[in-house]
Amino acid sequence: MGAGGNKRAREALDAAAAQSLRASLQAAREALPIWAARAQLVEEVRCCTALVLVGETGSGKTTQLPQFLLAAGLAQGGMIGVTQPRRVAATSVARRVAQEMGVALGAEVGYTIRFDDVSSGATRIKYLTDGMLLREALADPLLRRYKVIVLDEAHERTMQTDILFGLIKGVQARRKGDLRLVVMSATLDAAKFVTYFAGSKAAYLQGRQFPVQVLYTAAPEESYLDAALATVMQVHAEEAPGDVLVFLTGQDEIESLARLINARAAVASKEAGGIALQVVPIYAALPPEQQARVFEPAPDGARKVVLATNIAETSITIPGVRYVVDPGLIKARSYNARLGSDSLQVVPTSQAQARQRSGRAGREAPGKAFRLYTEAAFQALPPTTEPEIRRSPLAGMALQLLALGVTDLPAFDFMDKPPMGALMRALEQLLALGALDADGRLTQPLGRRMARLPVDPAFAKVLLAGAETCCAEEALTVVAMVSTDPVFTNPGQQRDAAAAARRRFVSPLGDHLTLLNVFQAYLLVGKAGRGRWCAEHHVSARALRKAADIRAQLAGHLTALELQAGASGAPGAPGDATDRLRRALVAGLFSHAAVALPDGTFKVLASGQAVALHPSSVLCGKRPACIVFDELLRTTRDYARQVTAIDAAWLPELAPIFFARHAQGG
Ligand code: CDP
Ligand code: MG
Repeated sequence: MGAGGNKRAREALDAAAAQSLRASLQAAREALPIWAARAQLVEEVRCCTALVLVGETGSGKTTQLPQFLLAAGLAQGGMIGVTQPRRVAATSVARRVAQEMGVALGAEVGYTIRFDDVSSGATRIKYLTDGMLLREALADPLLRRYKVIVLDEAHERTMQTDILFGLIKGVQARRKGDLRLVVMSATLDAAKFVTYFAGSKAAYLQGRQFPVQVLYTAAPEESYLDAALATVMQVHAEEAPGDVLVFLTGQDEIESLARLINARAAVASKEAGGIALQVVPIYAALPPEQQARVFEPAPDGARKVVLATNIAETSITIPGVRYVVDPGLIKARSYNARLGSDSLQVVPTSQAQARQRSGRAGREAPGKAFRLYTEAAFQALPPTTEPEIRRSPLAGMALQLLALGVTDLPAFDFMDKPPMGALMRALEQLLALGALDADGRLTQPLGRRMARLPVDPAFAKVLLAGAETCCAEEALTVVAMVSTDPVFTNPGQQRDAAAAARRRFVSPLGDHLTLLNVFQAYLLVGKAGRGRWCAEHHVSARALRKAADIRAQLAGHLTALELQAGASGAPGAPGDATDRLRRALVAGLFSHAAVALPDGTFKVLASGQAVALHPSSVLCGKRPACIVFDELLRTTRDYARQVTAIDAAWLPELAPIFFARHAQGG
């Protein structure tokens, strides 16, 4: 046989492999609880204006329903858009469905998340974050590209999904039967959705759930990470085969527990009669190739330990899990409208979330859930989680609704109304940012432009202020760098080397300028050398690539707004370059301005709240008199994160409305 024969033989083998993969995927589809109900579901979507579909996580709602609707011709002349609260879910589900349909990702099946669009003119099923669908509505208020919209994970009640409820209700009325809506939820209280969407119907999928034994600790644990480690080890040593799913609150925690488990894996394997332990992390910032690993079975009978954020609670289903380890915590946003402080905090889950997490152990066989807290603590948890709209700052949401033509925000058809105080705060902030006029109307051009930029209103203002003062290039870099994943990676053992490598980037003016220095240095390295350069400097290559990408997209938005992306070094640019950038930061972040107190902490001017510099800040240990910062992080105490030193005299000049009010009000 010649070379041609070899090639043909190889092609035949590849084709056979693809065929058998498709066949096994098809078999898996047909085994899902939703499969038997497909004809009936298609009929219900066809007949009623809105269908509320309730089914246990893993029953096949997200991956299958859109395929059924497409096959039934319900998307004729348009697309099926499926929203997801989480980016990881949107991308991983799109990948799975493309595989099931045997098409390339980005062709018939695609996804769109902020700063990453993998869809095309051929796309018929598009998974997108709820935030992205809202953005699309700005350009296309009637969402004409869609014939069906599926609002998935409705039980999560994210702010964007909540707004979409009201918005799409209005769009449906205007498109007169030409837009179908499906609301999907993993929890049983469909009544609220059915009442809200007049003329809708509920359908329930019969789940397949094995019993899960729930175990509590006898006394409160001192360290839940230690307790999680001990529990994983105990399961591995004593329990029947089956994978373990551990719920943690974020990437740092996942990385530390992974290190702790890996350090003990060899011993643990010996104790378990030679069965290996394989640790697999899953969180939003993980590269997609690595995210895909959680769906693969562990090799050679090893036991897989999945360390996940809340993403594994309902958005994705990981096969093989029989043991759940749940410390009962989640990183959640909380907003204090009175203080105007927004913080990410680690807080206890609700009872509903605890049940949902435990349920993950019983999908394929009877399982066990280890709750790392006492039964009394469970009884004391709130029954359900508050909708996000009731515990978040609302400026971004308010700006978007105003740009969508909703002028009377308190009268908007919210499923649950946001707290009036928080809504007032948001409008005040938009007024102070110059996005609203005194009559509460969006300003032209500033307010309209801010609404177009896919970042928080404060950062939109930073960009626009930068563009106005000839430092758009720097402002773009800074906003891109704070929007990407953490740039400074956890150095693990090489703490000193990492600190030394980073020192050369440090700006005495703070974290934003330090990030700017990192990015500028990165750009000077040739493309081929960047990976190595990042490793040497202990910065995340992925985060920097992503920052470059975000930056390019934001620059595109500025160009679309016909704003020049001039650099501060440009001839004729007035004043000191770093001053101009810091002033642009103040123009957006003034509500997070704080002055130094004698004890080394800072007082936030807007709220009077005391904050400390976050240990990660380059200003930590320095004593700037006045600062602005991005984020208030509440852990054991309140920290200001991403900080820049500023001149206090700039505040009344750059945010006159805000500081006039605060001067009067005290
Ligand atoms: O939406 P719902 O929770 O009802 O289920 P789904 O996400 O459609 O998942 C159905 C099945 O597809 C599950 O059994 C998953 O294990 C599988 N799946 C997968 O293997 N890989 C993915 N990326 C997504 C789903
Ligand atoms: Mg789903």
